[in-house]
Amino acid sequence: MKPLALGIIGHPIGHTLSPRMHLMAAKYNDINLSYSAYDVSPKSLARAIDGVRALSIDGLNVTVPYKVEVMGLLDEISATARAIGAVNTIVREGELLKGYNTDAAGFIKSVRKNGLTDPNGKSVFVYGAGGAARAVVTALASAGVRKITVTNRTEARSVELAVSAVQTASTTDVDIALYDSNKLFESVSSADIIVNTTSVGMGASGASLPGLEGLHAGQLVVDIVYAPLKTDLLKRAEEAGARPLDGLWMLIYQGAEAFRLWTGKPFPVDKVRNAMTAELEP
Ligand code: ATR
Repeated sequence: MKPLALGIIGHPIGHTLSPRMHLMAAKYNDINLSYSAYDVSPKSLARAIDGVRALSIDGLNVTVPYKVEVMGLLDEISATARAIGAVNTIVREGELLKGYNTDAAGFIKSVRKNGLTDPNGKSVFVYGAGGAARAVVTALASAGVRKITVTNRTEARSVELAVSAVQTASTTDVDIALYDSNKLFESVSSADIIVNTTSVGMGASGASLPGLEGLHAGQLVVDIVYAPLKTDLLKRAEEAGARPLDGLWMLIYQGAEAFRLWTGKPFPVDKVRNAMTAELEP
């Protein structure tokens, strides 16, 4: 049988852990597949998707900055991906390319399984209003959270995200908080779950999130950043007695769900977690 041809498109793409994860899962299931990382320049996205069709590539992951733009180049979009407004997984189904979003499911699974918290009925504070925030907010609303408060450096984007969340999440109370307010810690303090969806904390940027004086015991603090594994936010959470949850779990579960869509097979979650942890904590 022809090996399954898979890959990831993004720009830049150098740091991606996805090829390693999927090749490990292939080996675990004894499946013959290839998984390549393609750095696609912004002017070439449409031609890259034409190439996927011409070469009969079976599936792709899509990462920053193409999760929104790629939607206009596909034949079908799943209901979840449409609600979020972003696609991170493409599956070739016959002659058609269908877009899915597995980030949302990956996030909720990490909160339930590794954060040991059921989001239903909880109050959540979210940093950020970009593409990742959209997936997180949509996932939380479908998981039945009682209240979501969004803050973002650029306020207009938090307003935009809150408005679209209100339209899709009829039972969740959605609010915004001012990023530079000296009362931000009060909103942080009153939440059960705090989530960082911004790139603050990634690498050695030196920027820090406002309002962290509000962290305390009993809260779950999730960072979707996974490099470094233990971000400054998660260190602050630990110091305050809150439960920290790193972004590697979400990355692994979104990959597991994409792998299931492409192959129908299970993903060796713990094996992949151990290998990726070793890579991120040399
Ligand atoms: P993604 O798809 O990964 O969410 P994005 O749409 O570019 O990427 O969003 C990045 C998020 O990180 C935004 O919320 C951004 O805030 P702005 O909307 O103000 O740009 C946030 N972000 C990035 N760098 C930041 C920094 N130094 N301080 C605060 N927020 C930052």
